[in-house]
Formats: sequence, C-alpha cells, structure tokens
Amino acid sequence: MELLLATRNQHKIHEIRTLIEPISKLQLVGLEDVGLNYEEREEELEPYDTFEENALSKAKYFHELSGMPVIADDSGLVVDCLNGAPGVKSKRFSPFSAGDGNSRDEANNKHLIHCLSNFPDTEWNARYVCVATFVSESRDPTVSRGEVKGKIITPGRGTEGFGYDPYFLANDSNFTFGEMSEDEKNLLSHRGRAFKVLFQVISHVV
Ligand code: IMP
Repeated sequence: MELLLATRNQHKIHEIRTLIEPISKLQLVGLEDVGLNYEEREEELEPYDTFEENALSKAKYFHELSGMPVIADDSGLVVDCLNGAPGVKSKRFSPFSAGDGNSRDEANNKHLIHCLSNFPDTEWNARYVCVATFVSESRDPTVSRGEVKGKIITPGRGTEGFGYDPYFLANDSNFTFGEMSEDEKNLLSHRGRAFKVLFQVISHVV
C-alpha cells in the first residue's frame, strides 16, 4: 500500500523512510511525487494547542487534496521549567527566526538557551513528543504518540539530526541526538516510537 507522507521537512522524511523500510507492504510517497508542490496556506495547518490536533489537521488536509491514505506527524520539544514551551510552537519558537532549515534551527536553539538561562541547569528537564497519524477513506484516523525524556545541555554537541538535537541529551544516554546516527536516534526517539506503533497498526489493517 502507498502512503502519502505529509511533510516537507527533509530530516523527518529521511527518518520516517528508514523506519518504514523493513515493512515491505507499505511504501512512502512524497508530496512532490504526487504533484503537491508547496503552497503558502500550508503554514496555517497547525494552529492548535495539541500535537494531536495539529497532526490530524495536516493529515486530513493532504488526504482531501490527494484522496490517498496519508501519514503525518506533529512534534516538538517540551521543557518543564518553561511551562511546556516551545511545545507545539517548536518550529517557530524564536521571535528572530526567519527563513528555514539551519538558520531557523540556530535561532530557535539560541532562544531556547536564552530562556533557560533564568533557571539553574539542574531544572532543564525536557522531552521530545511526536504524534503520528494515519488518515484514510476506509477507517477512523489512527493516532500514535511517542515521547523521549531527557535534558537540555549547553554547549550543543554534534552535527547529526536537526532542530534542537545537539542540545538534547536523552536519559540514560551519554550522547546528544546530534551525536547519534539516524538508526541510533530512531531506536530511542519520539518519532521512532510513534511511527513504529503506527506502522504496526496500519500493516495489520491493510
Ligand atoms: P512540526 O513540523 O510542526 O512538527 O515542528 C517540528 C519542530 O519541532 C521542528 O522544526 C523542530 O524545531 C522540533 N523537533 C521535532 N522533532 C525534532 C527532532 O527529532 N529533532 C529536533 N527537533 C525536533
């Protein structure tokens, strides 16, 4: 079965492709592969306060446009002493972040450390959250949540991954997500956990 992956984030695409690879009856198709090129209104697809609502919003939007079975995720970093920020606003956390990709990540990380400097580093507990969803014609939406607990460190370490990864140290690990290979990150990560369960469920029903 072909699943349309509703994201334009190349890092997410890569991680999710690696996770689906062992499941031979599921194949991923990208948005551009089916002629869905970027449109400005996609920026308004995640206005909600929960990862679940935002993930479903993205999946339903692209399902309506394509008519295909769609998978999507909404994810972010939740920091306890910042009352859960950046949370669902992780992508646009920094007020100074313009552009995309690395420059946005850099601005977000700088802003994160700036906000945390008001607290002792013993309080920098955090978790990554990912909610993965599957929306199709034939059944109610499936939702799977994955989380990984850890803490924020500075300076950041490593050049792998994306976003906040160099600054995130998972509990019981000596390496930040920025220092891990993609396979190592997928074994522990919020996205790895959410999509492994989602793919198991989908492969049982198709
Ligand atoms: P989304 O595209 O709305 O789900 O926003 C995800 C944002 O959360 C990204 O742009 C990153 O800032 C952050 N994020 C989510 N997952 C990860 C991850 O695995 N590593 C690093 N940052 C992440």
